[in-house]
Amino acid sequence: MNFAIIGCGFIANKHAQAIQNVKNAKLVAVCDRVPKLMEPYTTQYGATPYTTIEEMLKDDTINIVNICTPSGSHADLAELVAAHGKHIIVEKPIAMTLTEADRIIDAANNYNVELAVVHPNRFRPAAMKLKEIIEENRLGKLSHALCTVNWNRGQEYYDQAPWRGTKAHDGGVLMNQAIHNLDLLLWYLGKPKKVFGMGATRLRNIEAEDVFTGIIQFSSGVLATIQASTTVYPKNYEESITIFGEKGTVKIGGANALYFETLEMESMDFDQCNVVINELKNDPWGKPGHEAIIEDMIHSIQHGRKPAITGIEGRNAIKLVLSLYESSSTNKLVNLL
Ligand SMILES: NC(=O)c1ccc[n+]([C@@H]2O[C@H](COP(=O)([O-])OP(=O)(O)OC[C@H]3O[C@@H](n4cnc5c(N)ncnc54)[C@H](O)[C@@H]3O)[C@@H](O)[C@H]2O)c1
Repeated sequence: MNFAIIGCGFIANKHAQAIQNVKNAKLVAVCDRVPKLMEPYTTQYGATPYTTIEEMLKDDTINIVNICTPSGSHADLAELVAAHGKHIIVEKPIAMTLTEADRIIDAANNYNVELAVVHPNRFRPAAMKLKEIIEENRLGKLSHALCTVNWNRGQEYYDQAPWRGTKAHDGGVLMNQAIHNLDLLLWYLGKPKKVFGMGATRLRNIEAEDVFTGIIQFSSGVLATIQASTTVYPKNYEESITIFGEKGTVKIGGANALYFETLEMESMDFDQCNVVINELKNDPWGKPGHEAIIEDMIHSIQHGRKPAITGIEGRNAIKLVLSLYESSSTNKLVNLL
């Protein structure tokens, strides 16, 4: 399968490396408005550089296009890619509004191409193990969950490019950083029913929020809180998800939600839990998420099945973020159902 990347900024490098590591995948083309940014991809991977997307999409050998541009540009680009009959891997968040997300999903359906959204944290070993624990009902009836992303993104991070920290193209900590964790909460806990949230811009000079606290009630009745910020001094402090059930408590934590900080379950004794905890300590990252997503896309095309993380799931994640934003701006509880 031949891949192309649109947008050769920070995240594109991870896509290029992942494509190189996947069997039967090759990076054949890249596109960026800034020619210099494409140089590493032409020299290192032999990709053909293009400064316009229209020119690149004329290349009939390209099967899959990875969209790695600012979040507010995903919809326009995805529509073009789909219209050229190429499959789409789009970076998170899928888009900045539900209308834009629907345009991407509709374009993929109308032109009969596959669409995958990059939520790579789903492929982390700890995240996958927690999913297995919940699916096997080892925690029993769930009562509540806690989710934190207390990180540091200094002013220089936002000043790197004009789109960062804007409401139309990036969003704040919830849309950009904590969306990974909200996606995991949705994966674990199902449909959200009501939300209440409050955001603020406290320490960074940006349009969107740098701190957000929200409450989510799921259809099951489970209550969750999300607490997210990019203002922590002096470095990333904690990224965690804790799930509480009648027969178990599990916390994935550390600065990057990679380790089981708590694993207590009625169905496993202390030694059995320790085996799982130590396995993760030896290989906390596992296979890089971007690699898993690229492999998964190839399999879905070859076997005629949907990718692991579909456009609808990407839409569900931004719907949750946008509902929390709405609650924050209106000071009201927002219903999602
Ligand atoms: N999955 C993750 O963990 C992760 C991490 C970082 C960023 N992201 C997402 O990836 C996307 C890009 O983020 P980034 O940090 O790499 O941004 P960036 O600013 O570093 O890079 C974006 C690149 O896109 C190019 N570009 C913009 N519009 C273009 C167009 N119309 N045609 C061609 N090139 C264009 C820019 O010149 C720039 O080089 C965002 O949606 C972001 O949320 C995801």
